[in-house]
Amino acid sequence: MTDTPGEAPDTDADRLTREWAERRDAADWSLADAFDVPGTYMEGNSLGPISDHAEAAVEDLLTEWRELGVEGWSESDWFEWGERLGSRIAPMVGAHEDEVVCANSTTVNLHTLVGTFLREAEGSTVLVNELDFPSDHYAVRAQLRERGLDPDAGLIQVESRDDRTVRAEDVAAALDAHPEVGVVLMPSVLYRSGQLLDIAAITEAAHAHDALVGFDCAHSVGVVPHDFADVGVDFAVWCGYKYLNGGPGAVAGLYVNRRHHGTMPSLAGWWGHEKATQFEMNERFTPAESAGAWQIGTPPLLAMAPLRGVLDLFDERGVTVEALRERSLALTDSLLDLAGERLPECEVATPRAPDERGGHVALEHPEAYRIGEALAARDVVVDVRPPDVVRLCPAPTHVGFADVWDAVDAFRAVLDEAAYENYEPPGGGVT
Ligand SMILES: Cc1ncc(COP(=O)(O)O)c(C=O)c1O
Repeated sequence: MTDTPGEAPDTDADRLTREWAERRDAADWSLADAFDVPGTYMEGNSLGPISDHAEAAVEDLLTEWRELGVEGWSESDWFEWGERLGSRIAPMVGAHEDEVVCANSTTVNLHTLVGTFLREAEGSTVLVNELDFPSDHYAVRAQLRERGLDPDAGLIQVESRDDRTVRAEDVAAALDAHPEVGVVLMPSVLYRSGQLLDIAAITEAAHAHDALVGFDCAHSVGVVPHDFADVGVDFAVWCGYKYLNGGPGAVAGLYVNRRHHGTMPSLAGWWGHEKATQFEMNERFTPAESAGAWQIGTPPLLAMAPLRGVLDLFDERGVTVEALRERSLALTDSLLDLAGERLPECEVATPRAPDERGGHVALEHPEAYRIGEALAARDVVVDVRPPDVVRLCPAPTHVGFADVWDAVDAFRAVLDEAAYENYEPPGGGVT
């Protein structure tokens, strides 16, 4: 970790103190002043907080709506918001501008992209990860069913190792064992453990087996830089409400490599039509020659405006995804050091190597659920994934080093005081 400039090198013991965290905050950049954050907010990988810029962008849209009414579609730039936001996000994912569009929700994008590429692929099964977010598997199973295929036979899972990691070699081995795989769908960052997978190596393995490959990047876009075009990824999806801070239910994003532009999307709709002739209202669908073809209906501008505001904030402050990644790694380093030293009762499920972790840290404890409740009562906002994972996300936009220290300190106090015993164990449905 970087030392505070102008000071004698910090010792390991220094780095565990709140004074060090405060000095580090004073020396580092942050966008915290632009955000309204409820408590010590370690949930940026679930729902990013509101920013002044997001709020202002919504107000601007409301004003346009009030003043222009339907003319907004012709007199303002509403018509192209999906493409415009996409081209602004393209540098974050290493894509050409026409390879990214903001549209739909992540789950809808999984449906349309898995559906499209399952049709285009040579093989007929889909290789997924055992530890995927459930919606990914629901969508894959549904798409297999739509093709008259048995989802139990058509969905093949790569299993994780004893240390909960999944390696590119495991994906390659699964492809060797299942030569009929047509589409590989993997997470960039595992939503529970926070492990960052090797996208380049997985893409190479998939292509070597003549399979198409896509990634669910919900837990990486906005905090980990990607290079989709150079690596040759076929498609990707992600959420707008996590590290991109686009607000609850924000529009999602998708990437489609140029070599697939012009392909018929599985969920075709008029907003994905070739732009120049969209309003000719032709009987037959002509896909846009860009990722824009995977839009479906009218873009949800109210779910897009906050994202537009956040991108303005990044531009105004000159914040790049590389800078966000550097700060995120420093914050998670500090969190891992503190957890290792002060929370020995917890097992750290996140890999320690910087190139193997995303933006959040998973701590395992049998009382995870009740610890989450007790932390919330102390204004430390974390989330819990059953049965035993507490996730802490020091999002680089708005969380500081002192916040990380405070979160771990509160965690320590909850354990010391057995404060979790004041809460009921989880009932039927935990988050
Ligand atoms: C990894 C991952 N994939 C997919 C989704 C589903 O996103 P949505 O509910 O926006 O469709 C989520 C939601 O948290 C997620 O974390």
